[in-house]
Amino acid sequence: MVAPWESMSSWLRSGEYVSAFEMVNGKSIWKYMEVEPSFGTLVHQTMVYDSQLIGKLVGREEFRTVFEGMKSMVDVGGEGIMAKAIVEAFPHINCIVLDLPYQTTEDLNVIGEGNLFEEIQIPPTDAVLLKSILHKCNDEESIRILTKCKGAIMNNSSGEGRGKVIIIEAVLEKENQMEDKESIETQLCGDVLMMATFNTTKRNEKEWKTLFLAAGFSHYSITSFLGLRSLIELYP
Ligand SMILES: C[S@@+](CC[C@H](N)C(=O)[O-])C[C@H]1O[C@@H](n2cnc3c(N)ncnc32)[C@H](O)[C@@H]1O
Repeated sequence: MVAPWESMSSWLRSGEYVSAFEMVNGKSIWKYMEVEPSFGTLVHQTMVYDSQLIGKLVGREEFRTVFEGMKSMVDVGGEGIMAKAIVEAFPHINCIVLDLPYQTTEDLNVIGEGNLFEEIQIPPTDAVLLKSILHKCNDEESIRILTKCKGAIMNNSSGEGRGKVIIIEAVLEKENQMEDKESIETQLCGDVLMMATFNTTKRNEKEWKTLFLAAGFSHYSITSFLGLRSLIELYP
């Protein structure tokens, strides 16, 4: 994870590799996780801890309106921790997980052994959750995933197209975060981490909005929490 940071300038000059991670490790991080199970477990575990933390917050008063009235949700690229926390806080929601099969750790209703970027469709649902997914995708991939999410909401006969996509990620450069040096450093660090590992970026609100409009969504709202985190509700 550190070596790509040290090789950014040679990666930029070479122009041959998708990411600095791939250049120094000989394979993408996804492939690396597959062939080096101990590394895969470590990366996976960091996401599990993160979801356990965020999962503790979803039942709080400030998030109740996000999930109220919802009957179904698909956690796309979710290893199961968030889905479990949501179901515990809101037992009326039927939540399913769509991920690569080896990633799902919780005993939940799991579907999909497919690649999000390929043929797999997201089943009709009231809501789609994307937590820490789109920052690992470039704009083209993100628009493709968001378009699939929109299809799943629009195809949901009970929701009559009134569903939403819930994105949990950072939104950079929010006004309240730009006066604090440590906050700015953390944002820049996250941004470079994405570039070194995936050749993607963290996004500010303007960049998010461009994606949303390109995928055919009409409006959104952003709620900040835990410092640099945001919960974006996105509507067709
Ligand atoms: C950074 S993790 C985020 C996991 C979870 N949403 C969270 O925040 O804890 C990215 C997830 O996307 C899944 N994923 C990656 N590529 C995928 C693909 N092509 N199709 C489906 N899921 C994929 C991974 O297995 C992993 O669980």
